[in-house]
Amino acid sequence: MIFHISLIMLFLDAGSSSFSGSLSLEEKRLFQYIDEHQDEFVQNLAEWVAVESDSIQPQLRGEVTRMMKIAAARLQDLGAKTTLVDIGVQQLPDGQNISLPPVILAKLGEDPLKPTVCFYGHVDVMPAKIEDGWKTRPYILTEIDGNFYGRGTTDNKGPVLAWINALSTYINLNIDLPVNIKFLIEGMEESGSNGLEELIQKEKDCFFSNVDYIVISDNLWLTTKKPALTYGTRGNACFSVEVSGGEKDLHSGGVGGIINEPMSDLIALLDSLVNSSGCILIPGIYDDVIPLTEEEMKQYEQIEFDLQEYKANIGVKKILYDTKEEIFSHLWRLPSLSIHGIEGAFYEPGIKTVIPSRVTGKFSIRQVPHMDLSKVEHQVKEYLENVFSKRKSPNKLMVSMQMGAMPWVANIDDPQYEAAKKAIKRVFNQDPDMIRDGSTIPIARMFQDITEKSVLMFPLGAADDGEHSQKEKISRSNYINGTKVFASFLLEISKLHKELQKASNLKTVT
Ligand SMILES: *[C@@H]1O[C@H](CO)[C@@H](O)[C@H](O)[C@H]1NC(C)=O
Ligand SMILES: *[C@@H]1O[C@H](CO)[C@@H](O)[C@H](O)[C@H]1NC(C)=O
Ligand SMILES: *[C@@H]1O[C@H](CO)[C@@H](O)[C@H](O)[C@H]1NC(C)=O
Repeated sequence: MIFHISLIMLFLDAGSSSFSGSLSLEEKRLFQYIDEHQDEFVQNLAEWVAVESDSIQPQLRGEVTRMMKIAAARLQDLGAKTTLVDIGVQQLPDGQNISLPPVILAKLGEDPLKPTVCFYGHVDVMPAKIEDGWKTRPYILTEIDGNFYGRGTTDNKGPVLAWINALSTYINLNIDLPVNIKFLIEGMEESGSNGLEELIQKEKDCFFSNVDYIVISDNLWLTTKKPALTYGTRGNACFSVEVSGGEKDLHSGGVGGIINEPMSDLIALLDSLVNSSGCILIPGIYDDVIPLTEEEMKQYEQIEFDLQEYKANIGVKKILYDTKEEIFSHLWRLPSLSIHGIEGAFYEPGIKTVIPSRVTGKFSIRQVPHMDLSKVEHQVKEYLENVFSKRKSPNKLMVSMQMGAMPWVANIDDPQYEAAKKAIKRVFNQDPDMIRDGSTIPIARMFQDITEKSVLMFPLGAADDGEHSQKEKISRSNYINGTKVFASFLLEISKLHKELQKASNLKTVT
């Protein structure tokens, strides 16, 4: 019997190695260890999910801090030099101050011959209550059909642990860590990363000085089956446009027909922004958008994308474009303008013949490289003032940009993208989708601008993970295979880094 079993194992082994390409002996040991220690990794995830580290509700701040201490202790146990950095207080809307959870800065290894990889992640979560419609207890990790449900499983405790698991695998197997590794883990991401930018500024020349690569694993694949690497996100410029008339709300029976109504002005202004083909009508707005390259078009062609499934997911019958290439370029490469709401308008059910005296429209532009925020602001104001002046309305117009976040884009020829592609290929036996994200993730741009280091967005979760929802989950495969991908990435990046160094040394010699 025993003989039989070992024969089967041999066959399996041969099968899996041809599947993954030629695995090195090191990789085989790493992957085998990860497979054999799945239960332990899942147990760690269960322990982390059990901490209600909700950073939105101030009364749970103590739990966030407790979570930071648990994560720090884990890194400390693995031999990392770990500090919990105090980043001050948060002023609540009622004027009260509460302390922000500390940020973890940890480092392991200081070999100048190895590259230094810094991983960023967060261990705070969005609020979750069973009454919100959860089918499982949100803070009790529950496995159903190969998926682990629970708040924070995919966003972002699972991916943070996958990096830590990868590290612990090296340490427990006594395999020399191929890189110096650093961790920056925060506990306020879901609340807007309070205090983080200041900390990164402060640490630019200390913690970050010898960092070569920054990796973020806090977004999702484009699909449920195929891994992806993200190399860009759009920015967001949020505007408000206020039209005010007289001193008070009026009645349409009393003055309807004899005044210029602020709401009519506002509707005309909002309607002038974008046409029914989705084109933004503000002159010059597309001027600085970089044209789509052939290479990008080719990348888009390679992405598997089911239009019907996508439509079903978003619950929409028709979208403006018929091909995936057009859809991707409009979501990732071109700006879009969306109208979000009107403050001061009558919106309750029923009839009320009011003429509001002051209304404020809200819209935003998801902008892309190389659109300049202040130029966009100027173009928007000038255009709306022009449209408004044509109406010859005596009302008062005020346009302002409330918030502006910059887009981010990475160079996909960067060594870390190469290394990540290789690692994915080894574990999943396929090339990743090279994607951008239509939404805004300010942290990537923040790291890039302040530290001037290369940033890689290396997602672990699948498209249907439901981050922030009542069905948040991560699959066993993504969690365990993701741990392998990260372990493999460390080997690949160190190899590529060494080759690059050799090449540049040769150059300096000749
Ligand atoms: C909260 O902190 C701010 C500055 O950090 C300070 O100006 C303010 O007085 C503090 N408020 C209270 C209630 O302590
Ligand atoms: C929207 O504007 C664009 C650019 O001016 C134009 O090509 C397109 O035909 C317009 N669509 C409609 C429905 O008017
Ligand atoms: C990892 O991926 C392989 C190939 O897709 C799959 O067969 C395996 O079951 C996955 N591992 C886990 C732990 O789910």
